[in-house]
Amino acid sequence: MDLLSTAEKQLITTLAWFRSRYALYQHLDPERKATRESIEAFGKTWIGEFKQNWDDAFASLQEKGVLIISNGEYAFTGKGVDLKNSVEAESPFYQYEYDNYFSREERSEAHRRFCEKVYGKDLSQHGLIDLDELALLIDRLKTNAYFDVLDLGCGNGRITEYLSGFSNARFLGVDISGEAIAKATKRVGVENEKLRFRVANINDLDLPAGAYDLILSLDTLYYADSLPDLLDQASRLLRKGGRMMAYFSQWIMDENYAENLLPENTHLARALSEKGHAYTCHNLTESGINHWKTKLAVLEEMEEEFAEEGNRALWEYRYREAYRYANWGENKYSRYFYEIEFA
Ligand SMILES: C[S@@+](CC[C@H](N)C(=O)[O-])C[C@H]1O[C@@H](n2cnc3c(N)ncnc32)[C@H](O)[C@@H]1O
Repeated sequence: MDLLSTAEKQLITTLAWFRSRYALYQHLDPERKATRESIEAFGKTWIGEFKQNWDDAFASLQEKGVLIISNGEYAFTGKGVDLKNSVEAESPFYQYEYDNYFSREERSEAHRRFCEKVYGKDLSQHGLIDLDELALLIDRLKTNAYFDVLDLGCGNGRITEYLSGFSNARFLGVDISGEAIAKATKRVGVENEKLRFRVANINDLDLPAGAYDLILSLDTLYYADSLPDLLDQASRLLRKGGRMMAYFSQWIMDENYAENLLPENTHLARALSEKGHAYTCHNLTESGINHWKTKLAVLEEMEEEFAEEGNRALWEYRYREAYRYANWGENKYSRYFYEIEFA
C-alpha cells in the first residue's frame, strides 16, 4: 500500500465512490460509463485543487493488475477490490473532499457570510449545528467540570475553539483532513495547552486509554465504519464515568420504516443498546428540517455573490448537499442530541 502514489490512491478511491451517493448529489446516473473522462470529471468535482494528475496512475494501476479496462470502461480487478478496501481504510474519499472544502472555504468572504446567515456565527461549520443547537452542549460544558475533551471530526477546529471558551477543560480535536488540522494548528499554535489538534481517523484512534472525560461528535458519526466499534473505542478512551455527546441525524429511504426515525431506533441508538450504554436525548428534528430549508434558501440567494468572487465551485459543493437533503422528505428524517453514559 505504501508503494502506491497519492495519485494512484486518489484514483482508486474516486473509482470506489463513482457509483455512490456522491453521484446522486450531482444528479448523475450511478450506472453511467466509468470512462477515463467521467472518472476524471467526478474526481475534479469532489477533490478540486487537491486532485493530482492521474495520467500515470491510469496506466500504472493497470500494469499492477488493480484496474482493467473493457469497452472503454475502468473497473477493479479482484486484487483491485482488496486494495480498494485498504486504501479506503487509510485515505478515504472524503479525506480529499474535506481537504478541498477547508482549503476553499477559508478564502471565501461569501462563505463567511453564508455561515453567519445559516448558523448565526461563522465557525467554518460543515454540519448542521447552529448556535441554538450548540447551546445544548455549551450549557453542559458550563455546568460540569470536564478536564479533557476529545472532539471527533473537528474540521479546522473553529467550533472546538469556540466551545473551549465555555470550559476550563483541555480540548483535543482530531480530523482525517490534514488540510483542516494544519489550519487549526496554525491558528492556535502548537504550544497551546488548552487546545490541540491532530490528524486521526475516528475508525482507528491511536490515542491514550482513559485519557478523556468527554468525547464529542458534532455531525461526524456518519463516518464511522461501525458504530458499535466506535463506541468500543470511546469506552477505551474515556475515564470511568466519562460521557459522550453526539449530534446525529437519521435518514431513511422509505416511509414504511418510519419507526427507525425514533430516538431509540436510530443507527446510533441501536449501537448504544447493543453495547449497553444508557443515554438521554433531545429531539432536534425540527431544527434539522429547518436547517436544510434555510441553507438551501440562503444559497439560492447568494449564488451570484459566490460566483463574483470566483467561488462558484464552493457554492455548488454546498448547494448539491443542501438541495438533496432539503428535498429528502420531512417524514424520512430525524435528528437528536444524544448524551451517553459510559459506566
Ligand atoms: C460533516 S463535517 C462536521 C465538521 C464539524 N464537526 C461541524 O459540525 O461542522 C464531518 C467532519 O468529519 C471529518 N471526518 C470524516 N471522516 C473522518 C474520519 N474517518 N476520521 C476523522 N474525521 C473524519 C471530516 O473531515 C469533517 O471535518
